[in-house]
Amino acid sequence: MRLLVTGGAGFIGANFVHQTVTTRPGVQVTVLDKLTYAGNRSSLDPIADRIEFVHGDIADAALVERLVGGVDAVVHFAAESHNDNSLADPWPFVQTNIVGTYSLLQAVRKHQVRYHHISTDEVYGDLELDDPSAFTEATPYNPSSPYSASKASSDMLVRAWVRSFGVRATISNCSNNYGPYQHVEKFIPRQITNLIDGVRPRLYGSGHQVRDWIHVDDHNSAVWEILERGRIGRTYLIGAQGERDNKSVVQLILEAFGRPADDFDHVTDRPGHDLRYAIDSSLLRTELGWTPRYSDFRTGLAATVQWYRDNENWWRPQKAATENAYAAAGEKVL
Ligand code: NAD
Ligand code: TYD
Repeated sequence: MRLLVTGGAGFIGANFVHQTVTTRPGVQVTVLDKLTYAGNRSSLDPIADRIEFVHGDIADAALVERLVGGVDAVVHFAAESHNDNSLADPWPFVQTNIVGTYSLLQAVRKHQVRYHHISTDEVYGDLELDDPSAFTEATPYNPSSPYSASKASSDMLVRAWVRSFGVRATISNCSNNYGPYQHVEKFIPRQITNLIDGVRPRLYGSGHQVRDWIHVDDHNSAVWEILERGRIGRTYLIGAQGERDNKSVVQLILEAFGRPADDFDHVTDRPGHDLRYAIDSSLLRTELGWTPRYSDFRTGLAATVQWYRDNENWWRPQKAATENAYAAAGEKVL
């Protein structure tokens, strides 16, 4: 199988490429990545001689059409992915997440290539903290931020290309991922690398917001199940029953550093901050038989802390610029 992986130098894409070359030696991987601030070619260094890497933009229609013409399937991870950045400047989110997806859809339509679209549970908006329900494939779309609105738009394009043009596509909407190679702007790596630097973790607002954490390897094993056995036109929710509030996540990270449970700061809240995400992944589990491998968040988190301790050369070049951007956006200790 020849596979085009967009965004393969980003967090989830790079882990997907590692998992693929390790577990599926018959798959030939081509990565297409623009290497934005979030893309890091060195994430692919350990497997560089086993893949083809193309530096380019998913919105470059001619390039995309040529690459798609030479493969059997596309897995589309490339995106602008950070909510805070989408509040500061929404335009790259519209351009990459919507126009970029359009260009891929036109190419898979023309070449009749199987397409899997990676999306987020954030398209569904948020749940109340005391609401016992979880998102399902039938939950109406209700995105809150420019990021989630751009992802929701891209999902809608995929659905339309399936229905109108017969494109063989599937969609997955996954909850918050953690693991190695995640950019230090995101919640968990930011707090780990702050602690390595002797800086207290930073909780937005109350810290009572809830995210449904999944290890990135579990997300990617689900993507493979869907790519191989998913029903065309279907949406699958991916989650591993990992609901935790932000404050308790910070406290687990503090514990891994041997620091007191109250050794953190509350900082300015995010505008429009979603309260709670929660995934019901029954369809994926019953129809495709998928189960996550990382059932214990504390163990997965401890391994992630160790990865950032061991790989300072990977994250250090981005750290100062990331913290400067948060300061410039007006983040203040409350
Ligand atoms: P990331 O920001 O770490 O990586 C994105 C990658 O896409 C980078 O390598 C970047 O260089 C590349 N890219 C950006 N614009 C591009 C363009 N125009 N052309 C080609 N490449 C481009 O993101 P991530 O966290 O790995 O997320 C990957 C996908 O998974 C996204 O679609 C995101 O919406 C989705 N997702 C993420 C999470 C999460 O918790 N991180 C959860 C659910 C879904
Ligand atoms: P993030 O990693 O940005 O993911 P998302 O916005 O897609 O859920 O943030 C996860 C949660 O952590 C979210 O509720 C915002 C919060 N957060 C903090 O409390 N402090 C931080 O420094 C960051 C980056 C996020």
